[in-house]
Amino acid sequence: MAGNRTFTMIKPDAVENGHIGGILAMINKAGFRIVAMKMTALSRRDAESFYEIHKERPFFGELVEYMTSGPIVAAILEKDNAVADFRTLIGATNPAEAAEGTIRKMYATSISANAVHGSDSDENAEIEGNFHFSQRERH
Ligand code: RTP
Ligand code: MG
Repeated sequence: MAGNRTFTMIKPDAVENGHIGGILAMINKAGFRIVAMKMTALSRRDAESFYEIHKERPFFGELVEYMTSGPIVAAILEKDNAVADFRTLIGATNPAEAAEGTIRKMYATSISANAVHGSDSDENAEIEGNFHFSQRERH
């Protein structure tokens, strides 16, 4: 199974703005199968650990504030080449640079509030999915 699963979060801005349905429709249309999904929230500690790689960056405080500002939808997705294909579907981190037809182009409001997360490697997809889901929550 290695290499064909990724992990995503629909971030607080997109949940707040009523875009869960629109984003899930784009995910399904692009051929991803939903393996696991839940509405949940990140604690400050969760967000700090999830984005630990960015802890020295100037935007880290803002990022943690934002990611803990409301509920998120977490999901594990399956498709051939899932990690790379999902990064293509979500588009550039900064929505101003995101290609037409991408989720961020459609739904992101700023570089911070950019609607969705997508894992950046198979290894991180596994770690991130395991953080949110037990075996019996996967189908
Ligand atoms: P993500 O991890 O959430 O999927 O986003 P990404 O790979 O496209 O971008 P990454 O470099 O991993 O950055 C993580 C999140 O930090 C926020 N950010 N803000 N203000 C800024 O300059 C800035 N740069 C990054 C974004 O919310 C980004 O998604
Ligand atoms: Mg990233």
